[in-house]
Amino acid sequence: MFWIFDGLFLALLCLGVNGSQSLYDLQWLSCQFVDEKVHINKEGHIETEYITRAAVLQFGKVGDRSSHPTITTFLVTASKVDMRRYLEGAEDKLQCEIHRYSTGRIKTRWPTAGAQDHDVWFTSTIRHSEGLFVTKTFLRHTTVAPVAPDEEQMDFLQWETINDGDLLTMSAAMVVLTQTPSMDVGLLKEPNLDCRFAVDHKVPHATVEWKLQQHGRRTNLFSYSSRTGIKEGNGVVLKDIAAGNVSFKLSPTTKHSEGTYICSVMVPPLNGSHDIPLTIIERPRVSINVGFTLSMQLGEVRKLKCDAKRYYPLDVDIEWYREPPGGSSTPSLLKNVWHSSHELHRDGTHSVSAFFYLKPSMEESGNIYTCSVSHKSLLSPIYKSFTLRVTDPDSALWYIAEIVFIISMVVILCYMRPRHLGRKSSKKSFFP
Ligand SMILES: *[C@@H]1O[C@H](CO)[C@@H](O)[C@H](O)[C@H]1NC(C)=O
Ligand SMILES: *[C@@H]1O[C@H](CO)[C@@H](O)[C@H](O)[C@H]1NC(C)=O
Repeated sequence: MFWIFDGLFLALLCLGVNGSQSLYDLQWLSCQFVDEKVHINKEGHIETEYITRAAVLQFGKVGDRSSHPTITTFLVTASKVDMRRYLEGAEDKLQCEIHRYSTGRIKTRWPTAGAQDHDVWFTSTIRHSEGLFVTKTFLRHTTVAPVAPDEEQMDFLQWETINDGDLLTMSAAMVVLTQTPSMDVGLLKEPNLDCRFAVDHKVPHATVEWKLQQHGRRTNLFSYSSRTGIKEGNGVVLKDIAAGNVSFKLSPTTKHSEGTYICSVMVPPLNGSHDIPLTIIERPRVSINVGFTLSMQLGEVRKLKCDAKRYYPLDVDIEWYREPPGGSSTPSLLKNVWHSSHELHRDGTHSVSAFFYLKPSMEESGNIYTCSVSHKSLLSPIYKSFTLRVTDPDSALWYIAEIVFIISMVVILCYMRPRHLGRKSSKKSFFP
């Protein structure tokens, strides 16, 4: 019986290993091609219509046939930039999108052999569905234009029509990637925002920039141009830039560090960028001021407090619930609960507490009280509970119950002793 499971397990293991290894020699990847139809309307404004179609990114050499002849094939031939090197994880986690890319007013010819003045550009963005990375590759397509393009016109007004079944041969010219597509960090941390690039020719004149976008406002954090050698701002190690590492080290985070960090690498006529949203988050530490069970005597009053400490951001839901024993009815929200005002700590975190006064009746014995804390940093609320035991020392019934209990224990003990001589110690636990 077990060998079946072993076999299954091995098969799964192999699948898993293959899934992550095969990306280096991936033959093709299915993609969405987001085509654009651009025209100038009657008012003279540019209008863009987007059409999404199935496509395939195929890796091979010039002259290869399409592996999927009915859809558009983007055949990527070998160059010094192998976009597959930057892919990780299982193939079914990859999401690929291809767009046309306009070089705008920049008319620079790409400095590799075979490049032309009128090369047509595409980008292929591959993201990992669980956020491991995003890569953006610039693909150069050399067209044989029947008529020379109009120099005065923008490139996107002269784009050739691409049909299903067409095969376009490309060469990867530049890749810009990040392994931190979004970040959740605590306060006073110094995270590294990852951004890297590779180009298909040596010593490109690259300009590297980091900007921060907050509430519609953009601030420059860093810029460096390898052509002029001018550097502004800090956070990137200069000697790493030549090796294609443009990672930005943040200074200790405060709540003002939140925003979208934009890394861009410009190698004319290309400009590749990644938007990295950063969120500050600190999980609350939750505690209540009693243990798992709380024994109270009838008439007694206690203050029950639930603390949520050192969380960020400010919004938090902290509630007390009561649930009768047996779990048959749903917990009910306690009404007479007070909330302390939010306390602000030096590091920017907050604390708050919710408390109530309990003067239980006998019927409330066995009730379970639960404090629930919900916060942005938590996938599900944090719960802390205690069970209430109420005793009535004045009750005759209580005395009788107690006496009956003691007598029955004595009887049981005496009855058991002769037969369980080895368990002398059990007496101790009944009469502490
Ligand atoms: C890039 O540079 C940063 C800062 O020097 C470093 O922490 C990081 O490990 C580097 N990344 C790679 C992939 O080399
Ligand atoms: C390149 O893209 C970035 C991000 O979108 C932008 O801030 C920057 O101005 C662009 N550079 C050029 C030269 O267009």
